Amino acid sequence: MPFDTALTRALGIRVPVVQGGMQWVGYAELASAVSNAGGLGILTSLTQPTPEDLRKEIRKTRQLTKKPFGVNLTVLPTINPPPYAEYAQVILDEKIKIVETAGLVKDFVPKFKAAGITVLHKCTTIRHSLSAVKMGVDFISIDGFECAGHVGEHDIPNFVLLNRAREALGNTPFIASGGMANGHSLAAAISLGACGINMGTRFMCTVEAPIHNNIKESIVKASEDDTDLLMRRWTNTARYFRNSVTQAAGKIEKESKTGKFEEIAEYVSGKRGRQVFLNGDPDYGVWTAGICIGLIHDIPTCDELLKRIEREAKENLERQVSMWKDDARL
Ligand SMILES: Cc1cc2nc3c(=O)[nH]c(=O)nc-3n(C[C@H](O)[C@H](O)[C@H](O)COP(=O)(O)O)c2cc1C
Repeated sequence: MPFDTALTRALGIRVPVVQGGMQWVGYAELASAVSNAGGLGILTSLTQPTPEDLRKEIRKTRQLTKKPFGVNLTVLPTINPPPYAEYAQVILDEKIKIVETAGLVKDFVPKFKAAGITVLHKCTTIRHSLSAVKMGVDFISIDGFECAGHVGEHDIPNFVLLNRAREALGNTPFIASGGMANGHSLAAAISLGACGINMGTRFMCTVEAPIHNNIKESIVKASEDDTDLLMRRWTNTARYFRNSVTQAAGKIEKESKTGKFEEIAEYVSGKRGRQVFLNGDPDYGVWTAGICIGLIHDIPTCDELLKRIEREAKENLERQVSMWKDDARL
C-alpha cells in the first residue's frame, strides 16, 4: 500500500518525493526518470538557452514519460535578466500542470493559478512562506540551511524550520527540502508535519542525472563537511561543493579590504559550474551541493532510489509506532 499524503493526492504521484529544479541538471532525462519511478520530476526552465528550447524539452519529456512532471521557474534579480515572461508563457502554452517557483515570482504565480496549475513555491524562511501562501501557492517547499544553492541568511536547519512551518502555515501543506537523502529523511519530515520531501543533491547522484560521472563519484567520496558557504558578505549566501575554487574565493571574501564583489565574481561564475558537469573536473569552477553529500554512498537508478526511499520510510514509521506500547512497563 503506497503513501497517501496531500502531495501524492494533489500531484497524482506514488512516492512523496520531488526532484527540485536544478540548473544544468534538470533536463528531460532526469525529470522523466524520476516521474517514471513514481516521484515528481522537474525540468529547470533556465537550463534551456531560450524559451523555444524549453518548449522542445517539455515535448521531449512527454515522449519519455506519461506520468506527471513539473517545470521550475526561478526568478533572480540580475543585471541582464533572461526573458522570464517568455519562459512562463511557454509553461502556460504547453499546458504544464505543476510548476515549482523560486525567487521573485509574484508576477507569475497569479497567471499560473488562473490556468489551474498546481504551484509548489520554494523558499528558505517562514516569512517568505507566508507571503507565498498569500500569493495563493498550493504547496510550500521549505529549504533548510542544509540545502544546496542559495541558503538565505537565516541559517535555520530543518529540525526547527519544518516544525515552525507546521506551526505557522495553517492549512497550506509543505514539503521538506534541504538535507533529504533517504527514507529516514522522509520519515523524519513526515513526523515534523511535512507531506513529502524535495531533493536536489541526492538526484545528482543517480544513473540518469545528465552530468559527468566524475562529479557523481566526487559526491559519493565526500563527507558532510565538504561544502563551503560563499557570498555572505554580500547577503547572497550560497552553498557549494568544497574545492580549490571555493577555498580561493572564500579567502578573498574574508580578507578583501575593498569588499568589492567583483573580486570574486569570476570565481563564482555559473558558466564554469556548467562546464564542471560536462568535463567532470570537480575543481574547474564552483558547483552547488548540499550537506547531504555525507549521506550519499552510491549511484542508483531513480527507480532503485525511490523504491528504497519508500521502503525505508515505511519501515521507519512502523518502527516509530512500535515504540508506543499501552502496556509498557516503567
Ligand atoms: C546543482 C543544483 C542546482 C540547483 N539549481 C536550482 C535552481 O535553478 N532553482 C531552484 O529553485 N533550486 C535549485 N537548486 C535547489 C534544489 O532545487 C533543491 O531545493 C535543493 O537542492 C534541496 O537541497 P538538497 O540539495 O540538500 O536536496 C539546485 C540544486 C542543485 C544541487
